Amino acid sequence: MFGLNRAKRTTAVVAAAAAAAATALLSAPTAVAAPQPIVGGSTTTTTAYPFVMQITDASQNQFCGGTLVSATKVVTAAHCMVGETTSSVRVVGGRTYLNGTNGTVSKVSKIWINPSYTDATNGNDVAVLTLSTSMPYTTAKYVASTDTSVYATGATARILGWGTTSENGSSSNQLRTATVPIVSDTSCKSSYGSDFIATDMVCAGYTSGGVDTCQGDSGGPLLIGGVLAGITSWGEGCAEAGYPGVYSRLTKFSSLVTTQVNS
Ligand code: ARG
Repeated sequence: MFGLNRAKRTTAVVAAAAAAAATALLSAPTAVAAPQPIVGGSTTTTTAYPFVMQITDASQNQFCGGTLVSATKVVTAAHCMVGETTSSVRVVGGRTYLNGTNGTVSKVSKIWINPSYTDATNGNDVAVLTLSTSMPYTTAKYVASTDTSVYATGATARILGWGTTSENGSSSNQLRTATVPIVSDTSCKSSYGSDFIATDMVCAGYTSGGVDTCQGDSGGPLLIGGVLAGITSWGEGCAEAGYPGVYSRLTKFSSLVTTQVNS
């Protein structure tokens, strides 16, 4: 299986982490990855994206991302919650910087992991956390099960997180964001073979690589048209040419998530 949270076997060919003009993120994506200074992209804030949550350990060390979909419910990846308990996890909202102390810290009263989850490369990579404390932040809408057209090939998707800014690099102290185009299922299947399960996963990235989520971004949002449509799940290395990022295809899990949100 492909390097999931682990050192990888091939050397990264990462685009130079040049500073991107903020305007690059506002404009439509081009076929070639702009050298955006996640991998690629640019810094942003939880003021701009108030629904982006840090998932941390009890000492508030971030290890995954999540998305606030109601005042007390956070969507994240199942693989982020493996081995975790309600007492080992916190959710931190409104904190742009990993080393910040501001924002809202909540304990978790329930961890729902998709019962079909086994491994990210087998799909079903979704979990919902119930918070003990309400988050006073704007929530994200998430796709309905019928919204399957959002994953049109080439559609612009926005990724967000505090993960590493290169394949074997360090996490970003500040929240980062980038946009990446949705990749067709056929193309993603040719990259990943049987590890790509089109019913449960959707891929996004440039053919040439250079912009991607990376370790520590898992569980965080992939937004299409500002709506939560995917969850950062896995990939071969990060930002490698020919290996797009793989995200949970949230339309498949929308009803399951809604059951949890309403529980
Ligand atoms: N599994 C990683 C995490 O736990 C996310 C990897 C995403 N990889 C990628 N190439 N998009 O943070």
